Amino acid sequence: MSTILYGDSVAKNIKQQLKEEIAMLMEQGKRIPHLVVLLVGNHPASVSYIRGKQKACQEIGMRSTLITLEEETTQEEVLAQIQALNHDEDVDGLLVQLPLPAHIDEKIVFEAIDPQKDVDGFHPYNMGRCMMGNTSIIPCTPKGVMKLLDTINYEDLSGKYAVVIGRSEIVGKPVGQLLLKRHATVTICHSKTKALKEIVKQADIVVVAVGKAKMITADWIKEGAVVIDVGINRHEEYGLCGDVDFESVLEKASYITPVPKGVGVMTVAMLLENTMECYKQRRG
Ligand code: GUN
Repeated sequence: MSTILYGDSVAKNIKQQLKEEIAMLMEQGKRIPHLVVLLVGNHPASVSYIRGKQKACQEIGMRSTLITLEEETTQEEVLAQIQALNHDEDVDGLLVQLPLPAHIDEKIVFEAIDPQKDVDGFHPYNMGRCMMGNTSIIPCTPKGVMKLLDTINYEDLSGKYAVVIGRSEIVGKPVGQLLLKRHATVTICHSKTKALKEIVKQADIVVVAVGKAKMITADWIKEGAVVIDVGINRHEEYGLCGDVDFESVLEKASYITPVPKGVGVMTVAMLLENTMECYKQRRG
């Protein structure tokens, strides 16, 4: 039987610390950190995630602004908006919500964000630094996954075999690098991987970020493995659930993160932390 690795209690502590820091800035009459979220279109899941991000800012006294652009906005118009925000001295963090409409190239958009305001850590400069082991701006979800591993004293993963399922730029690839930095032996699997289940069955740590409801069942998991579920699926039959079949894997794993109250809440807390980090970097 596993121990459930809740993110909400960890996130609460991080938010409390940030709240105190912001209260101190206010007391000193200083400017407070300001996060701007840019949404293009009205993707339903994005609208819901953004609401969560704004609520979290409000809870800790951080300033946040949402800019919504129409679905039909051209790439040039989005880039012009980003340039204006890059030059706005009053803005510390800039997040462009994904997914973007199909006519906009997200790589071009992320390269346009000032790396000093890149709270997602998606600019090639920050991503490159992350790959080289620099710990300043780490993408929020991977950073949240690592903080959860800290809570079970998984700081040094020497001799452990970690399998990441999913090779996205925003989760799979950076999580793989961060696990490697902790000395784990890492395999990143994806939709074209052969004998996926056999690979996963050998893992001491499994990080799942594929976006398929309850794909990973107990028969995929080695007895005593640590299972981190990054998926957030809204399934017709199951409702809100992860990529892991929580109930069955609970019997097999040593630790397992739930959905909700697992990685998702950590992502939001890491966004707040990264915004504070950008604020401090810019203030020098
Ligand atoms: N959409 C889903 N996750 C993320 C994220 O971490 N950052 C951004 N910008 N958009 C997302």
